[in-house]
Amino acid sequence: MPDAGAQEERIDENHRRDFTPETTTLWDYPYQSYGEKKKGDNRFSGVTPAFVVRHLIWRHTEPGDVVVDCMAGSGTTIDVAREENRRVIGYDIAAIRSDIIQNDARSLPLEDECVDLHFVDSPYSDNIHYSNHPDCIGKIPCEDERFFVELEKVVKEIHRTLKKGGILGWLIADQYRKRKFTPVGFRLFEVLARHFEPVDIVSVRIHNQRTNNELWQRRALKYNFYLRGFKYLLIMRKVE
Ligand SMILES: C[S@@+](CC[C@H](N)C(=O)[O-])C[C@H]1O[C@@H](n2cnc3c(N)ncnc32)[C@H](O)[C@@H]1O
Repeated sequence: MPDAGAQEERIDENHRRDFTPETTTLWDYPYQSYGEKKKGDNRFSGVTPAFVVRHLIWRHTEPGDVVVDCMAGSGTTIDVAREENRRVIGYDIAAIRSDIIQNDARSLPLEDECVDLHFVDSPYSDNIHYSNHPDCIGKIPCEDERFFVELEKVVKEIHRTLKKGGILGWLIADQYRKRKFTPVGFRLFEVLARHFEPVDIVSVRIHNQRTNNELWQRRALKYNFYLRGFKYLLIMRKVE
């Protein structure tokens, strides 16, 4: 964590770079990406809002620090971290870019305690088809207990590879399907809290989703349920 003096210098630098760091636990980004170079690919189903990664990197790392995304998808974390002059490694079970290493997040090819910041935007259930890979965790519905058992294996690998005092940011959403609500965020938080100390929970507004239209709004009223409006960003620290 940067000291207060260094933090002040970084705040001044932000004014030059048109970046206002978040100060509350409610984040809202109308666009997936920013800047001249795109970050990740907004055609990728489940792409991460690039600002989420940028804020975590700004708050919790220094230039040269190591950032890892073990479910890198279209590479948003890689693109943001590089632009911020961090060293970055991205893995995915279905690597779709040459700079993403094909690997199962339940077994990371990294030494113990070598990572400064882990970021994960994992599947929330089996609602999105990411790939045909049989080991994709996004093939397991969140109503099935196995979903959390498999995510805990990822959590343990992140814990092993994170430096003491290092930060994990995990983006996740709940599910309402077939008249059943599954509090995926709370369930994952329980798992994370077995291994890490909580730093905070941020609510990130969801934009551009499939259900963001009049048809789904009518359904929500007619059948008396709520559409998802936010994701949780669970911020955890490995105890020193
Ligand atoms: C929500 S997407 C990540 C989006 C990404 N942050 C981006 O901005 O494009 C979830 C990713 O988890 C990956 N995944 C699922 N199971 C995995 C596993 N066992 N190991 C590694 N990656 C996995 C999927 O292939 C998918 O790319």
